[in-house]
This record gives sequence, C-alpha cells and structure tokens, in this order.
Amino acid sequence: MASDKRVDEIIDRYKGEEGFLIQLLLDIQNEFNWIPKEAILRISTRLQIPLSHIYRVVSFYKVLNLKPIGRHVIQVCLGTACHVRGGPRILDAVENTLGIKAGMTTGDMKFTVKRVNCIGCCALGPVMVIDNDYHCKLTPAGIKDILARYD
Ligand code: FES
Repeated sequence: MASDKRVDEIIDRYKGEEGFLIQLLLDIQNEFNWIPKEAILRISTRLQIPLSHIYRVVSFYKVLNLKPIGRHVIQVCLGTACHVRGGPRILDAVENTLGIKAGMTTGDMKFTVKRVNCIGCCALGPVMVIDNDYHCKLTPAGIKDILARYD
C-alpha cells in the first residue's frame, strides 16, 4: 500500500511545473514498483487533475503499471519483423517456462511478462528485453537458460 507521506513527497517535487505528470507517475512507480490507486487519488486531489485524465495517461504509456509487477520485466517483441522470425514461439516458450500468460506476473513476483511491438532492433529478431538486457536472435530452446540467469 502506498504511504501518503511518500506520495506527497514525490508530488511536492513537481509542484508548479508544467508537463510534469508523466515524470511524477514514473517516480511513483519507481518508489512502489507500480502505481497504486491510492497514489492516483492523492495526485488527483492534491493537484486537482481529473482522475479520468490521470488514468488516460497511465493507460497510454505501457511503461506505467496499474498492477504490481515482478522484480524482472520481460518484454517479448511481436512486431512484424520479430513475428516472422518466430516471436510467437518465443512468447510461448516464456509463457510455458513460467506458467503464466503475457500480461501476468508469477506468483513469487519474480517475473512480469509483456508483449510489445518493436523495440528498435528488428534485424536481430526475435528479440526480448529483460529489464535493460537485450536478448537477440532467440530460439525457444534457449529461453529456459536465459530466464535461469535472473534471481
Ligand atoms: S519487430 Fe522486434 S525489434 Fe522490431
């Protein structure tokens, strides 16, 4: 649960600045590892920003999470180039290894799996990114070993 004190401290960093909302939300996420509903209510109340606007922003930016996420975020690319190079089989291998579907988090809060569209290195596909590590030219057989490197 988000503490009002921590949320207030983060809000106070941006008071009076224009175009701050996304950075404010990113800071909230960095603090709590997701964006709790209580924090959104607090931002809305304190800065008089309509809730609907904040939710629109959070929904638009895929980097912002309205649910708790795992310690490691796996982004599997299913953009066109990765798709034709076997991206769906990579996603299947990740899902089967972890026992969850894209959009979900493992019960131990270790991994969250997301599907994304193009992460800018199409020639190296199929690609997935875990946290800030790019894994390229993947094969389904190699997925288990890659995931085992993260604790
Ligand atoms: S389509 Fe996967 S990186 Fe571009």
